[in-house]
Amino acid sequence: MIQETIVITENAAGEPHVAPMGIHAAGDEFIILPFRPSTTLDNIIETKVATINYTDDVRVFAGCLTNHHDWVLEKAQKISGHTLQNTLAHCEVKLTHIDDDTVRPKLYCQAVHRVNHQPFAGFNRAQFSVLEAAILLSRIDRISPAKINTELEYLYIGFHKTAGVKEKQAWSWITHAIEQKLREKK
Ligand SMILES: Cc1cc2nc3c(=O)[nH]c(=O)nc-3n(C[C@H](O)[C@H](O)[C@H](O)COP(=O)(O)O)c2cc1C
Repeated sequence: MIQETIVITENAAGEPHVAPMGIHAAGDEFIILPFRPSTTLDNIIETKVATINYTDDVRVFAGCLTNHHDWVLEKAQKISGHTLQNTLAHCEVKLTHIDDDTVRPKLYCQAVHRVNHQPFAGFNRAQFSVLEAAILLSRIDRISPAKINTELEYLYIGFHKTAGVKEKQAWSWITHAIEQKLREKK
């Protein structure tokens, strides 16, 4: 199964880097698949560790793609790294091996420590809409403007009916960034 998570890595100087990543998860085994070039990739190769953060605050996903980076981090517990404050849960992982590729290497990781911080509060359609819109933004150069607008119109239905304050802020960051990129494309 692929889970949409926030992967936090750090470079050799200890500077953290926060990025949304869809990771493959099977028990204690994870595969992180960054497209080159990627700071996440460089950091994991350098330090051999990462944290996988499970959050329902979709502003973190939207913020990473739109330069809103004000997320409070905490020290990880068993590895040298950071976790998101207010995450529902996190898992600290170590790199076991790499299946290298010029486009999208596979980073095989093993869980070393898991912590549940807060209960899962249930599915929310607006959160789904924000995640899908964020993915559209991250692929904007490869998708036609007509398809982006059609997909946004559909995603807006569930968003509009169910969004709370966090989802509204995240949606606004993403849709403004998409509008700006589409204007630049013209
Ligand atoms: C829900 C979601 C899932 C994503 N999954 C991936 C992924 O699996 N691999 C990837 O390279 N980028 C993914 N992205 C896009 C990255 O987060 C974004 O391009 C980021 O800048 C990654 O590059 P970095 O490691 O240099 O930060 C995803 C974005 C979103 C919103």
